[in-house]
Amino acid sequence: MCGIVGYIGKKEAFPILIKGLKLLEYRGYDSAGLALQNGSLVVYRKKGKVAELEEFVLSQKHDGVIGIGHTRWATHGEPSDKNAHPHTSMNGLFTIVHNGIIENYAKLKDDLKEQGYTFKSETDTEVLSNLVEYFYSQDEAINAEMAVQLALSKVVGAYGIAVLCQAEPDKIIVARKGSPLVVGLGNGEYFIASDASPIVEFTNQVVYLNDEDIAVITKDSFTLKNVQNTPVTLKISHLNLEIGELDKGGFDHFMLKEIFEQPKTIEETFRGRLRPDYSEIVLGGLLNVFPKIQNADRIIIIGCGTSWHAALIGEYLLEEYAQIPVEVDYASEFRYRKPVIGKNDVVILISQSGETADTLAALHLAKEKGATVLGICNVVGSTLARETEAGVFTHAGIEIGVASTKAFTAQVTVLTMFALKLARARKTITQEEYSVLVRELAAIPEKGRQILLQSNDKIKAIAEKYKDAINSLYLGRGYLFPVALEGALKLKEISYIHAEGYAAGEMKHGPIALVDDNLPVIVVAPQDDYYEKIVSNIQEVKARKGNVIAIVTEGDKTLKEMVNDFIEIPASHPAVAPLLTVIPLQLLAYHIALMKGCNVDQPRNLAKSVTVE
Ligand code: F6R
Repeated sequence: MCGIVGYIGKKEAFPILIKGLKLLEYRGYDSAGLALQNGSLVVYRKKGKVAELEEFVLSQKHDGVIGIGHTRWATHGEPSDKNAHPHTSMNGLFTIVHNGIIENYAKLKDDLKEQGYTFKSETDTEVLSNLVEYFYSQDEAINAEMAVQLALSKVVGAYGIAVLCQAEPDKIIVARKGSPLVVGLGNGEYFIASDASPIVEFTNQVVYLNDEDIAVITKDSFTLKNVQNTPVTLKISHLNLEIGELDKGGFDHFMLKEIFEQPKTIEETFRGRLRPDYSEIVLGGLLNVFPKIQNADRIIIIGCGTSWHAALIGEYLLEEYAQIPVEVDYASEFRYRKPVIGKNDVVILISQSGETADTLAALHLAKEKGATVLGICNVVGSTLARETEAGVFTHAGIEIGVASTKAFTAQVTVLTMFALKLARARKTITQEEYSVLVRELAAIPEKGRQILLQSNDKIKAIAEKYKDAINSLYLGRGYLFPVALEGALKLKEISYIHAEGYAAGEMKHGPIALVDDNLPVIVVAPQDDYYEKIVSNIQEVKARKGNVIAIVTEGDKTLKEMVNDFIEIPASHPAVAPLLTVIPLQLLAYHIALMKGCNVDQPRNLAKSVTVE
């Protein structure tokens, strides 16, 4: 949610900042801005995409070797030029870009108004810039860093900020609490960003700021401490992100690239973990805590959105195979609903970004209650990865499309390996059952390739037929109920068609009232233990003239004759079927959204990484 960049060094800052903003645009894209320091400070802000800002800045003078930039996902105040960041304080002394929410901004604003401050925008960030200026002007002994510290001590909420001070023009001050910031260490230059993608081109040495860290950066120095002024040990991390991962690789959109990458990313998730002879699953990140997990009273899996759907699949897998009680919760509910958590509980947080505010709050709560806290996460160096006791990286590579695809299948792959490993350790499945399941899992990438190769054109034709629908229903049972939820989420978030995911057996308890000859009903119906039940559900929809699009097992004659449209997938074991059945649903959403002229990679109102509540 919102992307921040900064540069200080010897090079022209503008090209670095604008490129960085384009790479961070997935975090927010309703307005953008930057500030360049070159003797005096110039601020440029524009409603709309980063490309519009670029055009605007290029039409003017834009020199400077120090600068900060921002791409916004609006929280306080509508997207507009005046609400775009950076925000400069009333007397022009401080200019700030900010990611996060200052929760007590209204009270701070009233106090500042009493001191004579006036405001030009509706943002909480302008309040912060004026608050810093206020402290700075109280006493000559207070420098920019101290003023930022004093202002942050009054702030309730989350922030990742980069600050320029007109009176101390040779530095950028950065600080974080709840919103990520990473600093790249170059040679006589430093790079600042919300994630490492804008930095990787220039250096692979980075420092991830921790909550309440503040750093003062000049072109030759980097001083890190805590906002309470205590020193902090500098921990330099090594990036292993490839620049090549940041382009579309010949595809029209990141989302399509990421859908097609899935066979490969699942193989990456297997790497070093699925032994070639399938004798063992190695999850090195859990080694030290595995005995605790094995003997846990209960596992609680927590996530948001797509990650929560993966968690539901995890619940089904763990209960069926490892026979351990599992609960799944939305992070936003868990953190506030006063859950009962014991020391013998294992809490698994799932997050692609590792920066989702609600998931991090859930993590802190679970830690406080003494549970064993694990992470399943895609981003190495993220807050979740750093703050959990142990965990498993999904290794799906950077996901740029706002709608999550390959991160989901990687999460489900990790959960499947975890469930099978735990089941074996707890002796709740036999070696034979285990071998069958591991082989079925290992066969997924090849079957995924087959679906991508054979079905894309057919799905395009189906999309053409149903693209004008207003509503849609997605149905599944068992392991495929969460897949139905995920399919519906994909469609609604990128095409803006109302889509409901439902457990097929629940349909007659309400949603069946929606069925008429305008309603597409997408049913995930491969030949598994639920097959006959789901065929009956399809009959119920057909009897009410609904249009059924079914995901069926190759060669299924019964359903092919019964439904309006079908997409075939190779046969697989039910426990691994989510990894295959979700692919046609991702493609269907993609093609429908594209045909409706929607921006598939950057759907309206969304942002990739939800770092505010
Ligand atoms: C949907 C989507 C979101 C995320 C959710 C959690 O396509 O991407 O629903 O899954 O915001 O994000 P992470 O996994 O980064 O915590």
